[in-house]
Parts: sequence; structure tokens; C-alpha cells
Amino acid sequence: MTLLRLLFLSLLASHGFQEALSFTSPRGSSIISGAKGKSSSTASSTSTSLFGLRSTLVEIRNSLLSRDRTDSELKDGIAFFYDRSSKLWEDVWGEHMHHGYYVPENRTDHVQAQIDLIDEVLKWAGVPENGGENCPKKVVDVGCGIGGSSRHIVKKYEGCTAQGITLSPYQANRGNELAKEQGLAERASFQVADAMNMPFDDNSFDLVWSLESGEHMPDKAKFVNELLRVAAPGGRIIIVTWCHRDLEPGETSLSRKEERILKKINRAYYLPKWCSVNDYVQLLEKEGAVDIKREDWSYIIAPFWKAVIQSSLNVKSMMGLLKSGFSTIRGAYAMLLMLRGFNAGVIKFGLITCTKEKK
Ligand SMILES: C[S@@+](CC[C@H](N)C(=O)[O-])C[C@H]1O[C@@H](n2cnc3c(N)ncnc32)[C@H](O)[C@@H]1O
Repeated sequence: MTLLRLLFLSLLASHGFQEALSFTSPRGSSIISGAKGKSSSTASSTSTSLFGLRSTLVEIRNSLLSRDRTDSELKDGIAFFYDRSSKLWEDVWGEHMHHGYYVPENRTDHVQAQIDLIDEVLKWAGVPENGGENCPKKVVDVGCGIGGSSRHIVKKYEGCTAQGITLSPYQANRGNELAKEQGLAERASFQVADAMNMPFDDNSFDLVWSLESGEHMPDKAKFVNELLRVAAPGGRIIIVTWCHRDLEPGETSLSRKEERILKKINRAYYLPKWCSVNDYVQLLEKEGAVDIKREDWSYIIAPFWKAVIQSSLNVKSMMGLLKSGFSTIRGAYAMLLMLRGFNAGVIKFGLITCTKEKK
């Protein structure tokens, strides 16, 4: 681990500087582009460089101290992280940015395992197969990545349409591009929007789908409230998300060692404080959701992180990683922490489903 840390810090030293410059304002008005426009001014570029160096040092310090981010730092950081890393992920892994379904556990067809995960989750949640009664007609994909789930679901269910939201402009554009290439532009569309305040009317969707995005949400109560708000009466909500283990009776928090692992992962993947599957169930109950069901699929997805780490150990991935900059390199380092968290039993791959009460 020490060696890996050294490698990580040296990569950080060589690549962090440029990223810190552009990260200062991730929404397009980056200091680096500002500096380009005034390249003739040595004084300006010197102060920009000093500012960039300072930002880099602050970022390194915050990473080493695993400092928590504010909600607005998180929101900008998530957009920036996925803008920067989604192309590399797609080049290596394709259009699905989530775990795979490893049954049998030694399967190596990883992309198919990811597609199977979607189908198995739908089946587990009781969503009928195509042609059955009550199959989904209108889906919202909350935290859609580049839209892999939405396109799969609309292909699976005749006449179904999907709208996806993400914080990353790159992902929304790429999602729409892929929908067009696959002849699905009329049925699947993607936009930049915040799951904490969705741009949809109440009671709009008969399937509310959130696959590995809940862990990013800074206020889980508000998140759950939004999912229920946009669901149609009788509509189904499916949340598949990283959680920490349920607390034992008498426990009031995780151990300090467990907290330390999660805090480091939070810095790398732009996550706020974690919650447990139990916490989600309680929030849903409080909101009046019915038909609540939960499950832990940590054992089913277990081989995934090893496969991701292996996939990054080749020249193409390494070069892509180096080009993608500090946040992506840090994300790669955090894969080892995810593996450690799952092995230690503190990280759980949680499935929660419920329906919105029919009035
Ligand atoms: C790990 S990716 C999962 C993508 C996709 N569900 C999939 O499985 O391919 C997490 C996604 O959550 C999105 N996300 C995180 N916080 C969000 C928020 N507050 N509003 C909307 N999307 C958000 C990110 O932009 C990203 O697209």
C-alpha cells in the first residue's frame, strides 16, 4: 500500500497541477482557459501558476486529511469528475457505469454481467418481462451516467420511453449521441439536472430507476422525497446503491477504522456521508411508500472491483488514466479502498424497492 501511495503521489505531482487549474471553476470558466486568453501577460500567467500551485497543494492536503466537501463543492466536483472520467470508462468498459451480476462468480464476460445486473434487479423488484401486464411505459433514470440503463430498458419494453438526468454535461451529450446512433433518440433522452430538485412534474413516471447514484446524494431524505414525488401513484421505485452496513443493536456509529475507509473513498468519488440500507427503508416508510423490499447483493457483485483493477493494468488504460488527470487517477487508487471496504464488510451493495401508494 505504501508503494501504491508513493506512485499515486508522484502521479499527482505531475498531473495534479494542470487539473487544479481547471478545477478551480469546473463549470467552464476555468482559470486555465482564462490564462490562455491572456498568454502574453507574464505577470498574469505567473500569478495564475502560483494560484494553481496553491490549489494543487490544498487539494493534496484535503485528500490526505480526507476533508468533507460542502454540498456545492460536491455538486461541482461530481460534474467535473464524470466529465473527465466518462470517456475513459466508456473506452475500457462501455456504456454501463455500474457493477456486474456475477452469477456464476467466475464469469469473465463483464459487460454482459453489467447488462444482466439491470435485468436481474428488474426481476427482483417484480417488474414484469416485456409483454406482461404493468410493464414500464415511462421511466426516469436518476443519475443516468451515459444512459446505458435507459437505452437497455427502452429496448426491453416495447413503447417505453426514458428520461435520464446527470450532473455531467459530457454524460448528457454522450447519452443523447448514443441514443441517436442506436436509433433510440425518440425514446431515450438525457439532460443535465439535479436529482435533489428534478425538473419533472409530480406523479410523472411509472418506473423511477436509480442505479449507483444514491451514494452521491448529499441529503438522503430529500432524495427519497424527490423519487416519490415524481413517481406516479402505484409506480415503482428502484434504488441500487452503495451503503454502509446496518448498525448492530446498541451501536450508534461505525468504528473509526470503518469511517476512515469511507472518508477516503468520499474524497476520491465525490461522495457525502454514507447511510445504511436500514436508513433508506426508514426514510421510505416515513414518506408513506408501500411494498418496501430490500436486499444485500454484495456477494453477487464481489468479483467486479478485481475485474476493474485488472482492466486498468494495461498500457491503453494507464495512458488514458494519465491523460484524464488527478481526479481520475485518485479514483483509480480508490478502487483498492472499495475492495477493502467490501472485504471488511463495511460497504454493502444495497437494493431497495417500493411503490408509491395508489390514492
Ligand atoms: C456511477 S454513475 C452511475 C451511472 C448510471 N446509473 C449507470 O449505472 O451507468 C453516477 C451518476 O450519478 C449522477 N449524479 C450524482 N449526483 C447527482 C445529482 N445530484 N443529480 C443528478 N445526477 C447525479 C452522476 O452525474 C453520474 O451520472
